[in-house]
Amino acid sequence: TTTAIGVDIGGTKVAAGVVDDKGAVTDRLVVPTPTHSPQAVEDAIVDVVNDLRSRHTVDAVGIGAAGWVDSDQATIRFSPHLAWRSEPLKARLESRIDVPLIVDNDANAAAWAEYRFGSGQGASVMICITLGTGIGGGLVVNGQLFRGTYGMAGEWGHMISVPGGHRCECGNRGCWEQYASGNALVREARELARTRSPLAYRLLESVNGDIEQITGPGVTALALEGEPTAIELLADVGQWLGQGIANLAAALDPDLFVIGGGVSAAGDLLLQPARHAFERTLTGRGYRPTATVALASFRNDAGLIGAADLARVSMSEPPGSG
Ligand code: BGC
Ligand code: NA
Ligand code: ZN
Repeated sequence: TTTAIGVDIGGTKVAAGVVDDKGAVTDRLVVPTPTHSPQAVEDAIVDVVNDLRSRHTVDAVGIGAAGWVDSDQATIRFSPHLAWRSEPLKARLESRIDVPLIVDNDANAAAWAEYRFGSGQGASVMICITLGTGIGGGLVVNGQLFRGTYGMAGEWGHMISVPGGHRCECGNRGCWEQYASGNALVREARELARTRSPLAYRLLESVNGDIEQITGPGVTALALEGEPTAIELLADVGQWLGQGIANLAAALDPDLFVIGGGVSAAGDLLLQPARHAFERTLTGRGYRPTATVALASFRNDAGLIGAADLARVSMSEPPGSG
């Protein structure tokens, strides 16, 4: 059996793990993402990989990065949440890590994990949507990741949902990820808290009145305890999610949507409103099948599991075939 390390570099966390060929994580590490410089991110990756390799023998390393990975799967062209601009990440890491290494988009890696080992198994056209700092996207068609012509397919977090809406880190306004991500949940929760509305009482109490301490996991925890305002905030995110899902169904006609990322910890508090909005806005509704909207199996681990598996798969392919 082969063992690989997967590293998922998101806008907030670098999550790394040792993954076996069944997709099981046998060891893991999480550190905050240094967002200020490509060098610092590179150092963080090398550190976590070395740390895990000091305890495990591994055959390959897979990197899932929150950015637009070129079709050469070596260069990060751009990232809304990190400092990468035409960053030759693969070459830089290869000069410091002496095992075979691959680089892919973080959400592509997550989609792959769900397809191979999780909720996506057996789907013919599977769309994965990860809700974290931003919205990540991955598309698996007939058993293969679809990366587009230039490697950048699946960036539906930056389709404009609200013309003139909230400014996005990508530079545009009104991107879908400004309405249906972890960051969107936090922005809405803090905005409500700032009004000092009686509805925000429990929310404020949960952070001892310090609005900047409101986080996505914090709101989700309150919602899971049954707190009505937190439930409403998640339902709003779910509604935006469902509307975007309807758009993607119109474009790509999948059989399955898999919803992952940190916000998916809310489970049905997120998914039921999403399904409802999806069914209400799907074009041709009532006269066509409705794709299934399912929860991801691996949530925050999907990226690292998928990156590790992609590394393993690429090792078993003859050179030049991928
Ligand atoms: C980025 C994607 C990334 C996603 C999730 C988006 O803002 O554009 O490349 O996959 O966030 O991290
Ligand atoms: Na993607
Ligand atoms: Zn954007």
